Amino acid sequence: MTTSEVQLGDGDGDSAVLVSCSVNGNSVEFRAPVHRTLMDALRYELHLTGTKTCCAEGECGACTVFVNGVAVNSCLVLAAEIEGQDVVTIEGLGEGHPAGLNDLQASFLEAGAVQCGFCIPGQVMAAEFLLRSNANPSVEDIRDGMSGNLCRCAGYERIVAAIMTTARKRARR
Ligand code: FES
Ligand code: FES
Repeated sequence: MTTSEVQLGDGDGDSAVLVSCSVNGNSVEFRAPVHRTLMDALRYELHLTGTKTCCAEGECGACTVFVNGVAVNSCLVLAAEIEGQDVVTIEGLGEGHPAGLNDLQASFLEAGAVQCGFCIPGQVMAAEFLLRSNANPSVEDIRDGMSGNLCRCAGYERIVAAIMTTARKRARR
């Protein structure tokens, strides 16, 4: 057992890790089972349930968050791996913006891209990363950049439209 591991209190022999990191600009420390994914730690230890659990194997993008500014599938990252790292979730993206929504989130709503909504937090995080990487994307760039994010409601055209609208508005600033 390393110095950062502790025994869970119920005596079942499982070990836990203490993790200190930044989440949405706040310093946090939590204890989680050693095999806990970042996705589950966000939801169960930190109660940030905007990050969705779906496939849990890196196929759907519903769990997308930023780690050090890079979009990742949080179901493929162990909580222990984010020690000292900077995490941003969908809850953090709109902080400081009117109604708690940044311009991209507002565009998703205005474009009618939100149907059941389950995939949307991951879609928005992936789209934000796309726009930060490519401020002037073509429709093909958007489709390619968003190919890891699945929508069971098949709202893809409106999602693409929301991202394109945001890119155009940002270009005019
Ligand atoms: S839940 Fe992580 S990619 Fe599907
Ligand atoms: S809006 Fe329902 S899964 Fe995408």
